[in-house]
Amino acid sequence: MSEIIYTNLSRERCAEVVDLLDICFPHMTADEQYSEEELQEHVAYFPEGLVVAFDDKKVVGMGSGIFVDLDFDRLPPTEEDLLYTDDQPNHDYAGDYYYGSDMAVHPDYRGRGIAREIYNRRKQLVIDFNKKGFAAAAVLRDFHKYKDQLDVHAYVGKVIAGDIFDPTLSVQLRNGFEVIRPIKDFFPHPPSDHWSALILWKNPHFQGEKPS
Ligand SMILES: CC(C)(COP(=O)(O)OP(=O)(O)OC[C@H]1O[C@@H](n2cnc3c(N)ncnc32)[C@H](O)[C@@H]1OP(=O)(O)O)[C@@H](O)C(=O)NCCC(=O)NCCS
Repeated sequence: MSEIIYTNLSRERCAEVVDLLDICFPHMTADEQYSEEELQEHVAYFPEGLVVAFDDKKVVGMGSGIFVDLDFDRLPPTEEDLLYTDDQPNHDYAGDYYYGSDMAVHPDYRGRGIAREIYNRRKQLVIDFNKKGFAAAAVLRDFHKYKDQLDVHAYVGKVIAGDIFDPTLSVQLRNGFEVIRPIKDFFPHPPSDHWSALILWKNPHFQGEKPS
């Protein structure tokens, strides 16, 4: 494997990212995942928000997201509703938060710090644009192994305590995110009965609201 290169996604490489998402999110239907056209739109309206990792010429990792106002007590019913209204992206450069819509690393490249670097680059974006933080919905990837013994709150508590390693949430906790609460039916994932965890990285450099 050659050196991993990190950059923003270009229109020409969007089809490869769709292939990567198919591999990394096998439970999601094409409708539930970014299409090539949606990624190309994303590149046009918020190029900084989409970070990709290349090994030589192959896309091996990606992280996407938008700037948006968020009220954690009144989230839209689904991630799709948070990202789009009537098929129009809700991205707003003036939004309070960066919301991370996808994070994926090819299985052959996991455990090498690629997700960490893609998180770091998007955290830097949050700092550079003086946003309050970086939020996301973490798939509870291994909840299905425990759901006969633990309810989702107990499962998340054990992941936070380090008693259970969850391949998604544990990685995000190690990247400085905290859990706000488990949320149901926000992100499609049948094995976890559609439970995920709302997570947040607070920008330690946030300088407060600018006077209008
Ligand atoms: C979650 C995912 C993006 C992680 O990608 P990755 O490049 O393997 O992660 P990294 O190598 O950057 O690891 C980040 C941290 O988690 C730890 N980690 C990752 N996988 C681990 C494992 N299987 N066991 C123990 N620790 C692990 C790493 O050690 C690292 O922590 P450290 O830097 O403190 O040592 C990847 O597994 C993936 O694409 N999964 C499928 C899609 C998905 O679930 N995306 C998230 C949706 S919310």
